[in-house]
Amino acid sequence: MTDFSIVDVSPKHIDSILEIEKLCFSLPWNRSALENQMNAENCLFLAAVDREAVLGYIGLMTVIDEGYISNIAVARQYRRRGVADALIDALVEHTKDSLAFMTLEVRESNAPAVALYEKHGFVTVGTRKNYYENPKENARLMTLFFRPEDRDNADNVN
Ligand code: COA
Repeated sequence: MTDFSIVDVSPKHIDSILEIEKLCFSLPWNRSALENQMNAENCLFLAAVDREAVLGYIGLMTVIDEGYISNIAVARQYRRRGVADALIDALVEHTKDSLAFMTLEVRESNAPAVALYEKHGFVTVGTRKNYYENPKENARLMTLFFRPEDRDNADNVN
């Protein structure tokens, strides 16, 4: 088990996050997008860090009581050690009393990410056709409902 903690992203983390973005995504976020997410009042941006490195990160934008997960990634050498689990747990802990739900898009073929979200209670609520480029692919829309009545309604649709 890797020893790490979850902290707010600060300027010293941005270079490492940029590197992880480039390695993980065909259309990575650039520095100014990451800095905006770090500074915006309606965004939460958390990193998993040990003494030397950024292991992974998660970003959330909120609009009133809705949360949109904008990015989550873990550096390849630190995967399968519970880092993403800890990032989602921390995000939920920060927001569960103020949000009705948090939602995200994920490539339909991204089995590790879909399994991660399902483990944390996200349910599939729809599809966005050809949402992604490089390669073109549908997005699965997944949502974690914090209010039991919303969760029940979603279950009835699925
Ligand atoms: N295959 C199947 N399930 C996987 C998996 C894999 N390779 N990797 C993670 N999971 C799922 C499992 O449900 C796992 O729970 P378990 O260990 O009890 O089986 C759960 O995720 C948590 O695993 P964890 O070790 O915390 O995940 P991670 O730190 O390795 O990070 C990702 C998971 C998806 C964030 C990581 O693979 C990643 O950065 N991928 C590239 C970026 C990306 O695709 N981001 C998502 C964009 S929507």
